[in-house]
Amino acid sequence: RRRRKKPVRVYMDGCFDMMHYGHCNALRQAQALGDQLVVGVVSDHEITANKGPPVIPLHERMLMVGAVKWVDEVIPDAPYAITEEFMNKLFTEYNIDYIIHGDDPCLLPDGTDAYALAKKAGRYKQIKRTEGVSSTDIVGRMLLCVRERSLGGSHNHASLQRQFSHGHSQKVNDVGFGTGTRISHFLPTSRRIVQFSNGKGPGPNARIVYIDGAFDLFHAGHVEITTFNISLVVHGTVAEYMDFSKEESNPYAVPMAMGIYKQLNSPLDITTSTIIKRIVSNHEAY
Ligand code: CTP
Repeated sequence: RRRRKKPVRVYMDGCFDMMHYGHCNALRQAQALGDQLVVGVVSDHEITANKGPPVIPLHERMLMVGAVKWVDEVIPDAPYAITEEFMNKLFTEYNIDYIIHGDDPCLLPDGTDAYALAKKAGRYKQIKRTEGVSSTDIVGRMLLCVRERSLGGSHNHASLQRQFSHGHSQKVNDVGFGTGTRISHFLPTSRRIVQFSNGKGPGPNARIVYIDGAFDLFHAGHVEITTFNISLVVHGTVAEYMDFSKEESNPYAVPMAMGIYKQLNSPLDITTSTIIKRIVSNHEAY
C-alpha cells in the first residue's frame, strides 16, 4: 500500500445476492487496485427491475458485504447502471478514482453496457470473474434441496432459473441443473487460500474463539453472530436442527460436559430454510 500520498479510492458495485466466494474474490481483487474500497450495494427495487427480485433484502446484503475484510465503506441503494449523475456523485462526494467490475459482460435490459460511461471517462478497471460459482448455480442447488425435502411441493424451476440467469444466460447451460450441481467447480489451491488469509498467525496471548457450523449458504445471521467476543464453544439459538434431548444426537455434548458451552441468542432469525422459502415465494410471485 502507498504511504503519505492521497489514497486511491476504488468503487465496486453489485447485487451481492446470496453472497459467495466469487463475490469475496471480486472484492479482494478490487481492493488490490487501490487503497480504499467503497462498495455500492444495488437496491432491491433496481435489482427487481433489471433481473428479477433478489432473495436477500438490502439490509442483509449490506451486512454481508460490510463484513468482508477488504471492504472499507458500503453505500446502500446503489443504482444498477452507472448513470452520469451517479458517476459524478462518486467522483465528487465519495472521491472515487476508479470504478471496478468483473470481466463478464454486464448488460442492461436494453442491451447496453452498464459501465459504458465509466469506460468513456477512463475511470474503469476490470478484475477477473471467478469461474465455477454463481448465484444461479446456488439457486439450482437449493431447488434440488426443495425437491428432496419436498418443502413447498413441486415447482416449475425453469422460471427461477431464468430469473437468476440475467446477463449470464450463456452460463446457464454449463451450470447444469442436474445432480451435477452438487459438485463444486471451484479449486481451492493453496495459492488461493493464501490470497484469502492475512498471512498472520495468532499472537502468543491471543484469545482464540471457536465456533462450529455447517455454514452451508453463508448468510447475514452467520455474520452477525461472529461479532460476539466469547472464548467458549458457542452456538446460536436459531439453527436448522436443534435436538439436544438425546445425548447421542447432541453435537455439543462434550463442551457442555466440560462446562465451556454457551448458547447465544441469535441476533437474526435466518437459516438456510428461510432462504429456500424466500426463493420459493419469489418463484410463486413471478
Ligand atoms: N463476480 C465475480 N465472480 C463471480 C460472481 C460475481 O467476480 N463468480 C463479481 C461481478 O463481476 C461483480 C461483483 O462480483 O463485479 C458483484 O456481482 P453481482 O452484481 O452480485 O452479480 P453477478 O455477476 O450476477 O453474480 P452472480 O452470477 O453470482 O449472481
